[in-house]
Amino acid sequence: MNVTKSFINGVDFAAFVKHPAFITIATIIGIGAIFFICMQIVFYIYKKRLNTPITDKEEILSNSNTKNKILILYHPSKHGTTKNTVDKISKYYNENGYEITINVASCKKAYATNLYKIIYLVSPVYFGKVSDFLKKFVQENVIENQIVYIVNIGKLHYQPKEFENLASTISNTNEIYKLKLRGDEKDIKDAIENLSH
Ligand SMILES: Cc1cc2nc3c(=O)[nH]c(=O)nc-3n(C[C@H](O)[C@H](O)[C@H](O)COP(=O)(O)O)c2cc1C
Repeated sequence: MNVTKSFINGVDFAAFVKHPAFITIATIIGIGAIFFICMQIVFYIYKKRLNTPITDKEEILSNSNTKNKILILYHPSKHGTTKNTVDKISKYYNENGYEITINVASCKKAYATNLYKIIYLVSPVYFGKVSDFLKKFVQENVIENQIVYIVNIGKLHYQPKEFENLASTISNTNEIYKLKLRGDEKDIKDAIENLSH
């Protein structure tokens, strides 16, 4: 009979690694490690997405009968939910007599923000983070004595922490409103009029 045993310091490792308790613990640790690595990869991909610049994409929904203008800066999300929401917001205001200017937050163009009645800053939320381009825009364009709406698009409920970083950059001469949208609002009018701030 040929019996192979691997003893190291008196411990039978061959038997040890075949023990059901060892197999269970090793499986749990292995699955945990794979899950952790996958989460790190997903985290990296979405963080990069939030901070990858998009070249200028200015759109204007004009209304020749009005002096009321709205400026919307947004950072696009992976599946277009943020831009869809921006389009719904724009449609609502345009139908109510406003002229809307839309651009990506990472745009190179500088805006005379005082020409606009309301400024919207819109970002998707991934892992509790929003795009830093909105903060950069606020730092590079003077925004004083305006109405500013910060809109975060995400599936979770309103989380005050998500707004802190951007809101703290905006001068307190402005009237700041914070709104969390899921992106599937049928009635954007109700969402805007029932602002959670
Ligand atoms: C990896 C990942 C992380 C997310 N983290 C959050 C989060 O922290 N808070 C939140 O409200 N929504 C979160 N969401 C939901 C997205 O913000 C939501 O799907 C949003 O509509 C993004 O638009 P998209 O579907 O075009 O990517 C997350 C989604 C993904 C895929």
